Amino acid sequence: MSSYHIKNLEEYFQVYRKSIRYPEVFWEEIAEEHFLWRKKWDNVLSWDFQKPEIKWFEGAKLNITENCIDRHLGIRGDKTAIIWEPNDTNEKAQHISYHDLYERVNKFANVLKGQGIRKGDRVCIYLPMIPELAVSVLACARIGAIHSVVFAGFSASALATRINDCDCKIVLTSDGSYRGKKSIDLKGIVDEALETCPGVETVLVAKRINSDIPMVDGRDKWLEPLLKKASSECEPEIMDAEDPLFILYTSGSTGMPKGMMHTTGGYMVYAAYTFKNVFQYKEEDVYWCTADIGWITGHSYIVYGPLANGATTVMFEGVPNYPDWGRFWEIVEKHKINQFYTAPTAIRALAKEDLKYVEDHDLSSLTVLGSVGEPINEEAWHWYNDHIGKKVCPISDTWWQTETGGIMISPIPFSTPTKPTYASLPMPGIVPCLMGKDGKEVQGNQVLGRLAFKFPWPAMARTIWGNHKRYKETYFADYDNYYFSGDGAMRDEVGYYRITGRVDDVIIVSGHNLGSAPIENAINEHQGVAESAIVGFPHDIKGNALYGFVILKDEALDRDHDELRREINQKITERIGPIAKLDKIQFTSGLPKTRSGKIMRRILRCVAHNTPDELGDTSTLLNPEVVQEIIDNAL
Ligand code: WTA
Repeated sequence: MSSYHIKNLEEYFQVYRKSIRYPEVFWEEIAEEHFLWRKKWDNVLSWDFQKPEIKWFEGAKLNITENCIDRHLGIRGDKTAIIWEPNDTNEKAQHISYHDLYERVNKFANVLKGQGIRKGDRVCIYLPMIPELAVSVLACARIGAIHSVVFAGFSASALATRINDCDCKIVLTSDGSYRGKKSIDLKGIVDEALETCPGVETVLVAKRINSDIPMVDGRDKWLEPLLKKASSECEPEIMDAEDPLFILYTSGSTGMPKGMMHTTGGYMVYAAYTFKNVFQYKEEDVYWCTADIGWITGHSYIVYGPLANGATTVMFEGVPNYPDWGRFWEIVEKHKINQFYTAPTAIRALAKEDLKYVEDHDLSSLTVLGSVGEPINEEAWHWYNDHIGKKVCPISDTWWQTETGGIMISPIPFSTPTKPTYASLPMPGIVPCLMGKDGKEVQGNQVLGRLAFKFPWPAMARTIWGNHKRYKETYFADYDNYYFSGDGAMRDEVGYYRITGRVDDVIIVSGHNLGSAPIENAINEHQGVAESAIVGFPHDIKGNALYGFVILKDEALDRDHDELRREINQKITERIGPIAKLDKIQFTSGLPKTRSGKIMRRILRCVAHNTPDELGDTSTLLNPEVVQEIIDNAL
């Protein structure tokens, strides 16, 4: 029996038991048998959740691109590594073989070197879903530069914050991007961001929409001519297992976004291992994850996990409703997709449309479905199961986070039985637990608690870039010797986990994590606003939508409310991006506060959820009189 590929329930339990009893032996065997190392490790694992400090495969040397590309050339050089499906149905898909990928990555790596980028330098990648995005991520890894991909839907100001936080010297972008019927001036957003990023020396620009854009002399260069001149051989930089591979920003409940830093060896092993098992990928399969590479799902399960397994992975530039709501299913049919991985928000949006969009297409190639990003509700689960999987494709409801680097809790298709809305059982090596109000583990089954983990796993983020203290405070301070996820969960009678959602002030809107603090800061920048608070409320498609409570300054009290609402959302779009816009904005004379001056969000949530009878005790408030006003004016 190989621990690398679990094929039935008995194997799952055997492998899981082994992984818990002998974690070092377990991961060492997998690392040794399935990956290419230039030098073996001296030590499989050392860890200390107090500091916190976690090291996997210490002393080992490798380059992740040798694992994702070079080692496949002999046996599957002509196999398609990446299928790129463009936004427009009239444009042809690209099939990039492992050979092509090797050449493209090496050329790009040489271009980066030519611009003075070296091991350890941070490279900001602000690109749409075009092949250059995957290629540039791998090119960074080839030369040991640390990539920081910023989702190309973020605003100039959000981009600037992320560029400055990790001191990127260079930005990779394109002249624009397509999204359905729209085209977006990405380079213009970069230009605006760079007004406040003095450290950026170079901008490399890929051509995508062939627009006529201004280029800043000495700073901006077209990518294409540089690639043309570059050699297609680039020696991989030999990295330590614990050298940083990438930084990826995620929202916290307060303050700046957190630059989660992932390292090389452990991340590779874990992303590859979980990809193989959660999707049951087989050599000839074609796998498609609809996420953007700007999120962790794209990093681990479009790029690194699939390529480390020699898989064929699809990258889609467009959106689910262009040219119509049948686009996803047209792509499944066209490329004969076997494994399909998407988000509940997309499923809910698709389920609202006419079933003919599904039924017009042959989906018989599908074998496994995946879901990620937020809890999947019962209705969406069944629609996905009935109409897409035709009741024969197991649904992997995968729970994990930017911080965890890879999938932590998920069914293993054809091995562990699925249960609607349950992420089910932990991956091998993962030891979840639920924490109670008393700060201790809740024992037994059929219980609720906060989801934490007792033992390290290879892909966990090692720190927050530039702020180790915050890393400790956010994840290791609530419970001594545990990693705390920030999510609540329940465990059913057989030990299956169901995630109930965030327990902090992070709100997940259409699968995007949004911190309330940065949005409130953006609102407060409006000159008519004195103070604000936002909370989430249930939304049919987005899962959650945002509800803002805003106190106006005296001088704005007489202004038109709808106009103010538009201006506030415009501020948010500028500061963060359109994904953070508020669905509802209620103007109020005050916000419920505790005596220490903290906003009682619990009360605002009751108003937003339209459950005022669940308000509970409001007597400890500094200003209880404001509650009735807020309820009376609820939207
Ligand atoms: C939520 C995405 C329920 C959760 C990979 C987590 C989920 C946050 C699921 C991380 C799921 C993700 N069921 N909730 N299957 N998957 N979440 O960092 O609240 O973008 O903490 O990583 O999404 O979001 P992130």
